[in-house]
Amino acid sequence: MSDHRGFVPISMATLLPSAMLGIDVFVRSAPGLPSAKLFASDEPVCESKLRDYCNAGVTSAFIDVEDRHKYQSYLQRNWHLLLEDSQTPLENRLEIMGDVVRGVIDKQLQGGDIQSLIKASNQVAETAVKLISTNEVALSQLCAVLHHDYGTFTHSANVSFYAVMLAKQLGYDQVEQHEVAVGALLHDVGKMEIDSGIINKPGPLNLQEMNAMKRHPIIGFEKLVHREDVSFGQLMMTYQHHERVDGSGYPCAIPGDLIHPYGRLCAIVDVFEALTSQRPYRKPMEIEKAMDFMTSKRGTDFDADMLDVWVELTNKEEVNYEQ
Ligand SMILES: [Fe+2]
Repeated sequence: MSDHRGFVPISMATLLPSAMLGIDVFVRSAPGLPSAKLFASDEPVCESKLRDYCNAGVTSAFIDVEDRHKYQSYLQRNWHLLLEDSQTPLENRLEIMGDVVRGVIDKQLQGGDIQSLIKASNQVAETAVKLISTNEVALSQLCAVLHHDYGTFTHSANVSFYAVMLAKQLGYDQVEQHEVAVGALLHDVGKMEIDSGIINKPGPLNLQEMNAMKRHPIIGFEKLVHREDVSFGQLMMTYQHHERVDGSGYPCAIPGDLIHPYGRLCAIVDVFEALTSQRPYRKPMEIEKAMDFMTSKRGTDFDADMLDVWVELTNKEEVNYEQ
């Protein structure tokens, strides 16, 4: 694993015994087991080898960044099998959903085709809503199985899952949950037009870069505004997710009562995801610390009532832990 090209993590739970992935799969060392190539591209997934690493607590494997589209094709061929198997534990299905959704979004963002991105977003959102809505999913359980690397596709996928969690807790029906899930997948679509040097800069942005970055809600709005397959609420998720209820946000600096509810919802889950994920210049924040920070912004940055409901989600799981 010393290749210069870099690796991306994948979930061990996505590896089906006997499947031919056609790509090399690597693992980091585990107690009593070596750090090595787990499966070569020309061999099938070996069940006993897979079990040894899973039993040793290894949950992630790695693939060459160049192979990620082949991996995505594999997931697209097998995701129904992986997600609809009722024998597969919920954690694993959530993990697979995370990989599938971020892979689909990654592929579509690279392609730069809005039509395909929206179509794919609607397909994967259906799966996310089905899985989250029909199961008792705890926020910490979901957080634990998602990747938290710094990629727009990972961020958008995670924001989408959190958006469904919050929408469900707010009492939105499944149609609205789907609408919100798709809107969240699209919320940063304007970043497609921002210089990748700014997006991937390994440190805080200077003023000029920050101003360029702050244009992404406007660019996203312009990309989606004429589309009939994007609802007004979804459009507002893209346009208003950086607005703050005290009027200190951007691009319009409008107060909370003028921000669409979906925009206020998106603001909460967007910041939560950003805080709990890796950034080039800082480590992910613990959920508890992220919530401390966010509650300090209750009623200033975030809609107070919606934030209370988001806090409920974290309190709920503390009760579960004690049982
Ligand atoms: Fe954004």
